[in-house]
Amino acid sequence: MSDYVRVDYVSHTFKGQKAPTLSDIDVTIGSGEQVALIGRSGCGKSTLLHMLAGLMMPSEGCVRIHGHQLTRPSAKWNMMFQKPSLYPWMSVADNVGLGLAFAGKKDPKRVADLLDLVGLSDKAKANPQSLSGGQQQRVALARSLATSPDMLLLDEPFSALDAFTRSSLQDEVSRIAREQSLTMVMVTHDIEEAVAMADRVLIMAAEPGRIVGEMHVDLDFPRNRATPEFSRQRETLMTTFEQLVGDESAATSKVAPDEASDDDLEAA
Ligand SMILES: Nc1ncnc2c1ncn2[C@@H]1O[C@H](COP(=O)(O)OP(=O)(O)OP(=O)(O)O)[C@@H](O)[C@H]1O
Ligand SMILES: [Mg+2]
Repeated sequence: MSDYVRVDYVSHTFKGQKAPTLSDIDVTIGSGEQVALIGRSGCGKSTLLHMLAGLMMPSEGCVRIHGHQLTRPSAKWNMMFQKPSLYPWMSVADNVGLGLAFAGKKDPKRVADLLDLVGLSDKAKANPQSLSGGQQQRVALARSLATSPDMLLLDEPFSALDAFTRSSLQDEVSRIAREQSLTMVMVTHDIEEAVAMADRVLIMAAEPGRIVGEMHVDLDFPRNRATPEFSRQRETLMTTFEQLVGDESAATSKVAPDEASDDDLEAA
């Protein structure tokens, strides 16, 4: 797996604030790798994701994509948010084709294929407001995929959905990302979501926001939540998270791997 994204000692202090929000984030993400970023509210996950999207520049360090310093957003990496933010005055198909239209590359065939991919072919002409929350998030996913991005950045994209819709969309996004060899970085609060979708989970602690550990999820795809292996990995991640982040003193001293409960944990 070749390196795709390199977060090179990124620190960030917002204007008017004394304490840094992010400190010394140093991470490499491989091409086609699916990474989940977990951490408590306010630890800086969205700030870091915005930096990966080129929407915000860090005050120290930089983000490199294939070795090139990122200075602005690109159509090669698309972000998907908690709310789908679709335009209610446009049809579902026009919402999906928006990025293509902006790029002057209207492509009704591609839009139809994407709607098929997310299981919404019969809703092409519908108004987005007539769709359920899960269907709207599928439209947003199709729109994110339309410009054939190399990387998808997801900021808690399923958190507003009910449990059933959430798990089926997690599986669907995972399948599509793997089929299309997309690199994916996903922010989540949900331990199960991280285990269901990621190859590797980065654990963030707060004040300052920093990566205190990581865990590789060693399960085949498609992942079956009902297996003992899945439960075991979920429990390991939960325990590891609590060890590294739950007790702030442990988080600051960066707990060593041998203090964790599983071999596949690596402290940062
Ligand atoms: N534009 C800004 N100016 C000043 N402080 C900011 C700004 N944006 C975010 N922050 C602060 O930076 C910290 C991290 O915010 P961020 O949104 O990245 O957290 P998060 O981990 O995504 O939280 P959540 O899980 O609640 O979404 C917070 O303390 C927040 O108040
Ligand atoms: Mg956030």
